[in-house]
Formats: sequence, C-alpha cells, structure tokens
Amino acid sequence: MRYCGWVVRKVQVGRVLILEVSTSSSVRLSVLVFKPERDRDLYATVRDVDVGTALCFEGFPAEEQKSKRGIEYVVEKLEIYAKPLEPLPVDTAGKTPVLLDTRLKYRWLLARKPEERAIVRIRSGIIKAAREYFEANGFTEIHTPKIVAAGAEGGATLFKVQYFENDAYLSQSPQLYKQMLIASFEKVYEITPYFRAEKFNTPRHLNESWGIDAEQGFISSVEDVMKTLEELVAYIVNYVSKNYREELEELGIQPLQLTTPFKRLKFTEVVDLLRNEGVDVRENEDLSDYAERKLGEIMSEKKHYLYFIVGFPWSSTAFYYMREEDGIYTRKFDLDFKGLEIASGGQREHRYEKLVEALKDKGLNPENYSFYLEAFKYGMPPHGGFGLGIERLLMKILNLENIREAVLFVRDRTRLIP
Ligand code: 4AD
Ligand code: MG
Repeated sequence: MRYCGWVVRKVQVGRVLILEVSTSSSVRLSVLVFKPERDRDLYATVRDVDVGTALCFEGFPAEEQKSKRGIEYVVEKLEIYAKPLEPLPVDTAGKTPVLLDTRLKYRWLLARKPEERAIVRIRSGIIKAAREYFEANGFTEIHTPKIVAAGAEGGATLFKVQYFENDAYLSQSPQLYKQMLIASFEKVYEITPYFRAEKFNTPRHLNESWGIDAEQGFISSVEDVMKTLEELVAYIVNYVSKNYREELEELGIQPLQLTTPFKRLKFTEVVDLLRNEGVDVRENEDLSDYAERKLGEIMSEKKHYLYFIVGFPWSSTAFYYMREEDGIYTRKFDLDFKGLEIASGGQREHRYEKLVEALKDKGLNPENYSFYLEAFKYGMPPHGGFGLGIERLLMKILNLENIREAVLFVRDRTRLIP
C-alpha cells in the first residue's frame, strides 16, 4: 500500500529514527520506523527529513505494534514531495497546547493533528448522512441564490452588498426560495451557508454558518415536519456513531445512540417549567440563551437530551409561520440539544391572503416580497420545513465548548481571514 501525508514529529531513539506521519487513510498517525541496518540509503534520506515534510511511503503494518501514538509501519519506499521553508508556526503533533485564537488561525495546518482531523471528518460525515437520509426519503436537493433582494429572518441581521445599481443582501436562509419550490416539488432540501450580521460575540453564534434545510408539501400537520427532523437527526447521530468510531475515540466521545420520537414540549409548558425554577421568562418572547440552557438542565435530568419546543408566540417569530386561530401562538418549533437550539422550523402560512396580512402585521411591505407571494397564487399546498445548524449539531455531538471549533475557517465579529 501507498500512503501520503505530512511529518508531524521526528524522534530518535538510539539509532532508530521514527517519523510520525499524518495521512488521510486514517485519523490515527502512521508511525514509520527506520533502522540503519535495514536500509542504509533510506535511513540516510530520513535523517534529513524535517517536521512538515510532505511525503508518500510504501510499506506494511509492523507485526509487532508497539507505539501508542499510532499504527506502526515498516517502510520499503519513501518519496519526498515538499519540504517546509520554515519551522511550523504551530505544533501539529499536538504536544504543545495552543490558544483558541492561534488554533483558529492555523486550523488548516493543525488539521494534520488527529483530534482536529477527527472534527473535520465527522462534520463531513454529518453531511453524508443527511444526504443519504433525504435521498432515501424522496427529497430533491436544490440550490437557491445567496445574493438576494429581501430577507426572511428580519432586517437587522442582513449583510448588504452592492449588486450593480441595486442594493442586495447575503442570504440569511433559503426560506423564501425553498417555500416557492413547494409550488412544483413535494419535498426539497438544501445544504447551504447562512449569512447573519449579528454583532454577537458568543460561543454559539457565527456570522457565516451552515444549515441543512428542508421543506415538504402536502402535510397534514406540523407533526409531519417534526417527524422528518427527528428522523434526520437520529439518522445523522447514529450514522456518525457507527461510521466514525475511530474519530470519536480520538476525541474521547462516547458514541450516542438516539431513538425517536423526541420529547415534545409546548412553549407554554416550557414557560411554566422555567418559572418554577425561578427563571424569568416572558410569554411573548423567544427564550433567552440562559433560559434555553436552564431548560437543557431540567430535561437532561429526565434523560431527554433532544426535545422539541412547539407553539412559539407570534410576537416572537418570523412572518411566514402559520398562526393558530387564536392569533397568539404559531406552529413554529425549535429542536434543542442539551440546552442549545440546533434547529427551527414549523408549518408555514400557505394561504395567500393570510400571508399578505402576516407581512403587514410584521411591518414588512408586501411589495418587496411580490416574487415570493406570487408562488402562493397557483396551488400552494400546506407545507412546512426546518433549518438545522450544522455547527450547532456538531458542537453538541462532540461536546465542543465553542461553535468556532466546529468550522474550519471562522467568520465572526472579528475574523475575516484566513
Ligand atoms: O433558527 P433559524 O434562524 O431559522 C431559520 O433560518 C428558518 N428559516 C428555519 C426554517 O426552516 N423555518 O436558523 C436555523 C438554525 C438555528 O436553529 C441554528 O442552529 C442555526 O441555524 N443558526 C446559526 N448557527 C450559528 N450561528 C448563527 N448566527 C446561526 N443562525 C442560525
Ligand atoms: Mg431559530
């Protein structure tokens, strides 16, 4: 077999030279052992190899596996592809701790480390699993524009861009477009970036994040949508637990096995639960981060790690959620994972007149949404969907403290490079 990768550590023990190499064949390091008596030329070559060198080797796993650092190989052939111009700015062997700031700057290089590779690989596994789930369940993958004329999630968090002679924005969510496609598809999904100009600096917000969005038509109730979301999340988590054992082990994470259905809580019940714990919550507002975390503690005690909150008040939601007859509550839900919102969704208003009313009620000008409203004129069935935050989900699966650890190149209030 031929393996390619980068030297992360070089050690000499007596006359034996050892190279620890990070390859893409495994998150575990390859430990290459060289003895002068075995191959003199090869040994001489290895003596000149520095940490950071890109190389390929041919060989086979050693009969006796003595290294705790990785899989030991007996090397038969070595090809050097590139040498570092300078010593590396960070320790890719993971022996020296690194501050978050430096880590975020050099993630692309630190991804030679098993732990960092493991995070990136599990993220890729989440996407793979999501696609598998949707493709097996009749959803069509779509792509919607990221440069848009109108926002879906409120004006305050829009990034403005100059689009020739017009003002445009970076898309906060595929919301309006995925709904429009329910005029011609029963079920669609998109894996997409969200751009949000939130000035927050929290461990749970990014200004460019990624979401798994779905929308489905011909639903009988919001339950149909919640069922899709819980099945999807359970599929993803169980897929990761099954197929990324080595990565999870590298990160010291016990694989999680989820079963559905997840617990459902009414928003009004949540208000009561939290008030009983002395948490200050308003009936007509979204839950604060603190309230969400508190609820997570209450639910964890009952072994409910994932749970829905259903029926948010209209005063706290975006305009497109369907209102109940009472006009106070909506068919909007959140899915929380151990005290953190990982998804929002709901049943939408599909009745043209009511939708126009809803826009006006939220102080929006229906004229700015005419391209969207038109889709509701020609046979729009009852529908609903959700947006699931990829970084938030990854963060919770891996117990990461900061959402920035869940993305390779961070876009937050202060980071625009690399
Ligand atoms: O809750 P959000 O804003 O809902 C929507 O975008 C709706 N259009 C979804 C729908 O179909 N009704 O965003 C969805 C999810 C959040 O629950 C969160 O996980 C993630 O996307 N998210 C963010 N993650 C990190 N940083 C941010 N600034 C995020 N904004 C949203
Ligand atoms: Mg939300």
